[in-house]
Amino acid sequence: MAEIRYDGQVVVVTGAGSGLGREYARFFASKGAKVVVNDLGGSVKGEGSNSSAADIVTSSINAAGGIAIANHDSVVNGERIIAAAIQAFGRIDILINNAGILRDITLKNMTDTDWDTVIDVHLTGTYRTTRAAWPFFRKQKYGRVVNTSSSSGLYGNFGQSNYAAAKLAIVGFTQTLAKEGAKYNIHANVIAPAAASRMTQTVWPPEMLDMYAPTWVVPLVGALVHTSCAENGALFEAAAGHFSKIRWQRSPGVMLRPDEKFGPDALLEKWEQVGNYKSVSTAERPRDVEERLQMAWMMEPNRPRGKMSFVERVVLVTGG
Ligand code: NAI
Repeated sequence: MAEIRYDGQVVVVTGAGSGLGREYARFFASKGAKVVVNDLGGSVKGEGSNSSAADIVTSSINAAGGIAIANHDSVVNGERIIAAAIQAFGRIDILINNAGILRDITLKNMTDTDWDTVIDVHLTGTYRTTRAAWPFFRKQKYGRVVNTSSSSGLYGNFGQSNYAAAKLAIVGFTQTLAKEGAKYNIHANVIAPAAASRMTQTVWPPEMLDMYAPTWVVPLVGALVHTSCAENGALFEAAAGHFSKIRWQRSPGVMLRPDEKFGPDALLEKWEQVGNYKSVSTAERPRDVEERLQMAWMMEPNRPRGKMSFVERVVLVTGG
């Protein structure tokens, strides 16, 4: 197989001043891409700003013969980051939404500021950069987006309800981008990485930090955005050289008829079946809302069916 390269492509990496983002930026630049190294340069909690984070990474890329510019905007002003890419390089092909902060605190002690700041950077930031890049992707009929979720969002994590909420919201956001972008050859995928960085260095034991270098996550991001990769709307985990794909799974479930027993008592009687995944051959994996709704449609033959599919109807109503 020929060496994977990104010559002629413009990559925006948010939060590229340290940790995972820095490794992504260095990788893409070393493989021929022009890179926008975005970083606000604040603290892990999202306080303050400092241009040196993005500047140092940018200088090291350029010194090594790559092509990069620094950008110091917050992802909350994502349109400015995309504008910087267009101004410097005239296009954008790949967007890696990676910037992030933490404000770990239990729900009992959470303030609105803790909540809003985390949601703003992760979720709203991801939305703003992507929305700004979208018209360019659509026009050139090409775009690749990698968004960043977290195991905290997928599984929940003590003291991280703000972060977990933002991170799982990013999964739903990405899966929707995948559906809206497919006909324009825009692919969006989402990753849940784990790596030693300033985010994890205070909570992970030192021997674990040694094993989880951020460079171990890079192959997944590089693969997902390459022209040869057809993945769209998928979720992956990556850490310490291990890569895997994650999907929702649904039990076969139960169907209650709207008779005189219809209600929570009837449902509780069959509760075991609701969560029974044992018959794996009939366990279900809906990939979209239409497939999720099909169960009820299939089990109620007398329900009227429209001429349009659910997806066609939604496309019509939301503007295509
Ligand atoms: P990091 O703290 O080393 O890097 C995050 C970067 O984002 C920092 O350089 C920071 O200055 C920048 N940033 C923060 N707010 C910003 C804003 N508003 N605008 C622009 N830049 C901003 O952390 P790490 O570990 O590299 O995290 C990267 C991403 O991976 C984050 O989204 C994080 O939530 C996610 N992640 C990391 C995990 C890990 O084990 N390190 C686990 C799961 C997810």
